[in-house]
Amino acid sequence: MSWFSDLTRSAVGKKAVMAVTGIILFGFVFIHMVGNLKVYTGAEHMNAYGDFLRQVGAPAVPPNGLLWLARLVLLASAGLHIWAAWSLTQMAKAARPSRYEFKEKNHTNYASRTMRWGGVIVLLFIIYHILHFTTGTVLPGFEPHKPYENLVRGFSGTLGTISAIFYIVANIALGMHLYHGVWSLFQSLGWSHPRFNPWRSWFAHGFAWVITLGNISFPLAVMAGLVR
Ligand code: HEM
Repeated sequence: MSWFSDLTRSAVGKKAVMAVTGIILFGFVFIHMVGNLKVYTGAEHMNAYGDFLRQVGAPAVPPNGLLWLARLVLLASAGLHIWAAWSLTQMAKAARPSRYEFKEKNHTNYASRTMRWGGVIVLLFIIYHILHFTTGTVLPGFEPHKPYENLVRGFSGTLGTISAIFYIVANIALGMHLYHGVWSLFQSLGWSHPRFNPWRSWFAHGFAWVITLGNISFPLAVMAGLVR
């Protein structure tokens, strides 16, 4: 297992863990946003899509089987992503010769601070989001297996408006996190070249904007009465 300890101890290995788990999480966020666009096609479509996700793979796979597999992969990816980020920060701190340089405000520091705070906001958001729309713990009137009705209820009334504002702020933080994450991912893959960098920037901005605009459109559409 020496390759495994090499992978988890070296900065290159940790960056590889960040990159692979980042791609998995990024893929989920994109597919989830596209799936949620069903809210614009009405309750029937959106709820049928939720039922499909619970039954996908049947009868070969038991009900909720693939859903639980996806949950496990996502949970493991999020855990490893956070561990690698924390561990790389510790390595960078240990390698810094003086506190003076630590205080220097340069682009890298700005980006890594954004990543850290953005990451914390996104983590708090995910915890709230699961209690809101999956377990319904913080959503009065929650109806199991009715994502459309829950989504509308979740962003309606005073409590819903407060939730909607939190969703919008958290999804803007997620957008910045995705932008910096995609940009750094290319760096980790060694795809950094003055001729390629404009494409790299375009791609990172494009994806971050599409996901952010898609995601913030849902609470905004309910607040504007377009989805009800
Ligand atoms: C405004 C944007 C979003 C809306 C409206 C939304 C809505 C939903 C809804 C309706 C569900 C289904 C709950 C169910 O019926 O079981 C869900 C599940 C989920 N969402 Fe979101 N979502 C949004 C953004 C996000 C983001 C940005 C993330 C992650 C960074 C995320 C992570 C999840 C996860 C992990 C689940 C599955 C929970 C589970 O079943 O275990 N969502 N979301």
